[in-house]
Amino acid sequence: MFSRALKPVAAVAVQNGAKNFSTTSQRNYKVVVAGASGGIGQPLSLLLKQNALVTHLALYDLAPVTPGVACDLSHMDTPAKVTGHKGPEQLADAIKGADLVVIPAGVPRKPGMTRDDLFNTNASIVRDLANVVASQAPKAIMAIITNPVNSMVPIASEVLKKAGVYDPKRVLGVTTLDVVRACAFIGEINGVNPTNVSVPVIGGHSGVTIIPVLSQSQPAVKLSDQGKIKALTERIQEAGTEVVKAKAGGGSATLSMAYAGARLAGSVLRGLNGESNVVECAYVKSDITEAAYFANPVVLGKNGVEKNLGYGKLNAYEQELLKAAMPELLKNIKTGEDFAKK
Ligand code: 2OP
Repeated sequence: MFSRALKPVAAVAVQNGAKNFSTTSQRNYKVVVAGASGGIGQPLSLLLKQNALVTHLALYDLAPVTPGVACDLSHMDTPAKVTGHKGPEQLADAIKGADLVVIPAGVPRKPGMTRDDLFNTNASIVRDLANVVASQAPKAIMAIITNPVNSMVPIASEVLKKAGVYDPKRVLGVTTLDVVRACAFIGEINGVNPTNVSVPVIGGHSGVTIIPVLSQSQPAVKLSDQGKIKALTERIQEAGTEVVKAKAGGGSATLSMAYAGARLAGSVLRGLNGESNVVECAYVKSDITEAAYFANPVVLGKNGVEKNLGYGKLNAYEQELLKAAMPELLKNIKTGEDFAKK
């Protein structure tokens, strides 16, 4: 079910050398990075500038450095045109006519904080961005990285609903980093190249709501002991906190998140561009469980999320994880919906 036919275009371009850009794309896409000058935004923009499907990369941020970041990236000899847009008065122009709006905007965690502690600051940022997407690019796909993702996707969805332009296929929460981490750790344990590992991570994107489905890993995880499976599961669930602690006050994951965000964005564009069998885990509107939003493998296509593949068979331990995740996920979703309805 969960295939790994989803190598990030950006990473492939990097691996293959800077001049190797396909010119066979059927369409060209405008991609906006909202929060482009931040810790995630800059490396994410760097990776997207290397994506052959991007013809216009619009960088938006409040930070005064934003036109400079755009100028810097525009000197790269790749086809995407880069524009910089600074401050709320330039936001509409940044988003106008976008095909994909990737949102890493907002504040990151400091040691001791949970993703939920970011809600008050980040909720209004995502709400305001969604309002501009509704008016300037109502058909755009939104890929939300801003934490807490579990609540931000409901906020954006409610805003788009209010504006009468909501299409559940076009709003995604980025949970790709959970999959990337699971593959990295399993690669290490199995002594194999992590890019050859495939494993779904379902649920949401915080703590217990992150549910790695290790029983579906391909190749199988080389751990026989249930205690070690539990430890690996908890490491994946707490990997974001591992980075927050390691950065000791310097923020949360930025580089690996940029890599993951660029992979998801690249997959969205490949789907839009008519490629078949593009599968990624993403946090989307869902009727798979009692939660109105849920992450699991989805097929990305010309309209965004074309098909929800569900999560397949869970073993007894994973079913317990799902049970434990549900109250937290439902609470996170309600928090987001209540905020947006205020
Ligand atoms: C993480 O998982 C920042 O939420 C992000 O590290």
